[in-house]
Amino acid sequence: MKIKNVVVIGSGTMGSGIAAHLCNANIPVTLLDLKTEISKSARDKILKSRPPLLFDKSKANNIQIGNINENFDVVKNADWIVEAVVEKINIKHKIYEKIFKFRKEGSIVSSNTSTIPLKILSEKLSDKDKKDFCITHFFNPVRYMGLLEIVKNKSNDNEKINFLKNFCESNLGKGVIICGDTPGFLGNRIGVYAMQVAMTEAINLKLSVEEADAVFGRPMGIPKTGVFALYDLIGIDLMSDVLKSFTKELPNNDEFQKVAKDIPIINKLINSGYTGRKGKGGFYRMNKNKKDKTLEALDFNSGKYFPVKKIDLKIDKVDLKNLINRKDKYGKYSWSVLSKIIKYSSSLIPEITKEFNDIDEALRLGFNWSKGPFEMLQEIGPKNFLERIDGFDDNKFLKELHLSKKEFFYKERQKYTNIETLGKIKKSSIKVEKNKSAEIHRFNDYNIVEFITKANALDYSSMDALKKATDKPLLIINESMQFSAGVNLKYIMDFAKQKDFKSIEKFIKYFQETCKHLKYCDKPVVSAPSGLALGGGGEVLLQSNFVVSHTNIVIGLVETIIGLIPAGGGCKEMLWRWSQTTEGKKDPDFAPLKVFDIIGHAKTASSPQEAIPLKFLKPEDKKIMNRNNLFTEAKKLLNENKKFTPPQECKFKLSGEKVRKKMHKKLTKLYKEKKILDHGLEVGKELAYVLSGGKTDLNKEISENHLYNLELQSFMKLIEKKKTQERILHTLSTGKPLVN
Ligand code: NAI
Repeated sequence: MKIKNVVVIGSGTMGSGIAAHLCNANIPVTLLDLKTEISKSARDKILKSRPPLLFDKSKANNIQIGNINENFDVVKNADWIVEAVVEKINIKHKIYEKIFKFRKEGSIVSSNTSTIPLKILSEKLSDKDKKDFCITHFFNPVRYMGLLEIVKNKSNDNEKINFLKNFCESNLGKGVIICGDTPGFLGNRIGVYAMQVAMTEAINLKLSVEEADAVFGRPMGIPKTGVFALYDLIGIDLMSDVLKSFTKELPNNDEFQKVAKDIPIINKLINSGYTGRKGKGGFYRMNKNKKDKTLEALDFNSGKYFPVKKIDLKIDKVDLKNLINRKDKYGKYSWSVLSKIIKYSSSLIPEITKEFNDIDEALRLGFNWSKGPFEMLQEIGPKNFLERIDGFDDNKFLKELHLSKKEFFYKERQKYTNIETLGKIKKSSIKVEKNKSAEIHRFNDYNIVEFITKANALDYSSMDALKKATDKPLLIINESMQFSAGVNLKYIMDFAKQKDFKSIEKFIKYFQETCKHLKYCDKPVVSAPSGLALGGGGEVLLQSNFVVSHTNIVIGLVETIIGLIPAGGGCKEMLWRWSQTTEGKKDPDFAPLKVFDIIGHAKTASSPQEAIPLKFLKPEDKKIMNRNNLFTEAKKLLNENKKFTPPQECKFKLSGEKVRKKMHKKLTKLYKEKKILDHGLEVGKELAYVLSGGKTDLNKEISENHLYNLELQSFMKLIEKKKTQERILHTLSTGKPLVN
């Protein structure tokens, strides 16, 4: 079997997302809808999507478009036909009738339904057609959500289902879970239940919207959208439909029924057009009436909106035990929510799956939780948990757990994959060192550095670990959301507040020394990023010898946004890469001007395909669709480079003032157009000074150290400025940089 050609029917949110992702995988795909204009506008929307659905926008036209009346012939050639039309059974049945009339023998037909059982979808199909029909339930946004649930039943051809699973894992990078035909499958059954519990309990315990999201969010290892902001994101009306379907499908005595009932505030919001982000707002709204935009949250008591209050729980890392033991309302809320989620999930074993691991995996990949309910149970400790809950007589799983008196039952995460991942490797590797920001693991004859801070922000200790670990070939990898969001700004600001600029300088120097060492030490260094690799994180990548990159990454040197310039060798390395191009070799001002444009505008790439033309990545750097494969591919590179010779140190010839003038001209234009203000102009001039080589001319050859020094001097000048510090503090307190 091969999948060489796919047709997606229905070009709404999901159909267009699936088509875009097939295009990412270089699979020819046709997107059909009722009218060609609809699929055309869907393709236009793909191009504008944020975060982008396509790795490479120039490939958008590889998605063919058409309508189901004139272009249905394409189905004849398709190896896989994905139905993603509206969630109406009659419409779906009609489409299947047509598909099975046209499709070629043996092709796979699947539905993206989120709520309709397979047995109902397939009730009108012949036994022969049922063999080839299943549910492929993707999550939104398709490119970014790791989970794909394949729902099959007894009539299915198992070989075909396994083939589809393998295809979606290796070609589409998904974590595939094969599920039985139960309502909401695994992800939504637990994920939507969890959202409903979080909402109901917040209302019962009189927590505000912001308070609930602050607890049912980062401190629990759940994305910061928590419950209410997630409701707004999904659409309050869509959630209401999903709940109606659960109420209909689930037995009356299912615990879900208790939290799926109509909540009066929800109906009020929907009826007044407050359907979430796509509508006038929802539990949150952006008030644009005043001069400034203000984010407001709904107050349950008055039904009015008030500016969002920041809730600081003073919790840096996921720490469930601490959270549920707090004596305040947040402790009460978190226990109430977590205990219900764990109890419900465990009560569904073995009914919805025999493998509790699959439920955890579904929540991690489909809802971006860092831990699933069973991992949470393990963290709390089964003994603690069982002592504290009201009773578990009717819960077979918990009863068995109680009888076995096992404190530790969770042996292996990601059991579903045979691939070597960092998580698996860590069980047999030796932890050589651990400091507050990173861990060094020794595995076979190489070292692994894993950053362990929030968003993997870098500080002195992170550099220390990298430096120490180069006594062996080195692999820099982690399994959290971000490779590294950059240098820890709080770390820098703590010194700046004390006017201790000497310590900042010491850190930057060490950062430079480490990055230089990564590039030139006699052992190969491989970085394997996924998620953000920004600022200092980008500089670590740029100066690694090899990169194996997940396709979902965001790379960029974005320091200018906060009023700084890259000073860990980012300016230097980008200059070098651009000076090696044909244009760069011909014209000495080409590279400095190019890099001035890229760093000055803080350009980012949101895929390796976008990163290569900007030279954040090299064409030979590896692009990996399935994140689980990063480790194996990176290890392969280390093995292939046992006889490694480090690169030669770079030498530069830069025209100094000559090219600097050209840069200043650009800055003056931006300043006149008010695109940058006084502070922006100062930052731009510092960047220009570094990238032009400072006091030099084309007759002089300058070293990398010279450029490192320029980076350091400019960085220090800028960090001492009040305006820069204000920008950093703003970013730290709001999580977003100032716009101008
Ligand atoms: P949508 O409303 O955005 O798009 C549905 C598309 O189907 C529209 O473009 C419509 O014109 C088209 N359509 C309707 N009848 C058609 C027909 N007879 N032939 C061809 N096209 C037709 O819906 P969305 O959100 O993309 O959902 C599609 C399916 O995916 C549904 O079954 C839904 O339950 C499921 N789903 C939705 C998720 C979401 O987050 N939106 C997540 C996972 C599954």
